[in-house]
Amino acid sequence: MLAGKRILLLVAGGIAAYKSLDLIRRLRERGASVRVVLTASGAKFVTPLSLAALSGDKVYGDLFSLTDESEMGHIRLSREADLLVVAPATANILARMAQGLASDLATTVLLATDKPVLAAPSMNTRMWEHPATRANIATLMSRGTLFVGPGAGNLACGEVGDGRLADVMDIVAAIESYFSASAPLAGKRALVTSGPTFEAIDPVRFIGNRSSGKQGHAIAAALARLGADTTLVSGPVAEPDPAGVRVVHIESAREMLEACQAALPADVAVCAAAVADWRVRDAAGQKMKKGASGTPSLDLVENPDILATLSAAGNARPRLVVGFAAETENVIANAQAKRAKKNCDWIVANDVSANAGVFGGDENTVHLISANGVEDWPRMAKDAVADQLAQRIRDHLSKVA
Ligand code: PMT
Repeated sequence: MLAGKRILLLVAGGIAAYKSLDLIRRLRERGASVRVVLTASGAKFVTPLSLAALSGDKVYGDLFSLTDESEMGHIRLSREADLLVVAPATANILARMAQGLASDLATTVLLATDKPVLAAPSMNTRMWEHPATRANIATLMSRGTLFVGPGAGNLACGEVGDGRLADVMDIVAAIESYFSASAPLAGKRALVTSGPTFEAIDPVRFIGNRSSGKQGHAIAAALARLGADTTLVSGPVAEPDPAGVRVVHIESAREMLEACQAALPADVAVCAAAVADWRVRDAAGQKMKKGASGTPSLDLVENPDILATLSAAGNARPRLVVGFAAETENVIANAQAKRAKKNCDWIVANDVSANAGVFGGDENTVHLISANGVEDWPRMAKDAVADQLAQRIRDHLSKVA
């Protein structure tokens, strides 16, 4: 259920902060990745070192850290999360959230985020029952903040009553139930191609290209986060396999085609791979020797076109076939011609000329071309392009269900 989900855990300063360690462990066991923001008072109860060891990531806490702000600003912390979880949510942090204060990194992230927030309150019973806290909770609920707990029982202060942090497994269940309600592509199958293909010249040399797989992998991860049962067919890349995605590693275009056909049926196919158009007709069985018979010439033959094959797959054709067009000139016109030739429903055009920095870079400027016309999207992180494309796929599949 949580495979591939990205949780940003904000740990505030309460005696229950130590339970965040178990929470991280439980979430990661279920396939989620957890990144932690720790408040200054939270650090009095639990160490950044323990949180970093369990989350497998750096712990963030300083709003004015030059390195963090340049490498991983508060906006990016929020952008790279699917859900923000405040646990323990003390009376103090809930009050600051209700007031809209941005007095440290945690509250700045909470104010700047457009992602859902789940809070697990934890405090003394009198603080929980205080009219100020009641008013803060009501304000936050009216703005859509989700809550789990608190429970009732013996409190660390020696009193008995409401205010105990919800059991860790109840917090996990609340997170799972949030995601199951927000998995609009659950029950749908997605196929994504990514990366280059390598076409052997001999056992050590190949024809390849500069695709890093960043864009295709991000699309597979975004579709999986929306609940799609996702298969990623990837050429040789350095990108890690996205969590929650079935990955088939291939080298050549013919292997990619075979893996794609084996992954059918699918509701949507997105062909983001940079497939080599040609391969060497007869790759040498042994390493070719220099100078033996002058400079070799390569006899090339055309590779199968995976996008066109999926678009023409008859009954097995995915309901939505999306291609990419990598162009260095006349981007829109060439992409429109490719859409028509390959008979796909949508084509995502991008300018891959050297100065655009798209191959291997972290950002992309794309144009979504469909029967309805051309939509120009602004320059964005490849992750954001992937999220936006996944949302559009979700909208489309929900209409043609
Ligand atoms: O991997 P990155 O470094 O993140 O870079 C991303 C990207 C530039 C590779 C990606 O955004 C992109 O544009 N992918 C398509 C690259 C490409 O091969 O474009 P094309 O215009 O040559 O091909 C058009 C479409 O046909 C593509 O969907 C391609 O996957 C598909 N094709 C092409 C040839 C072939 N034999 N089979 C195919 O399926």
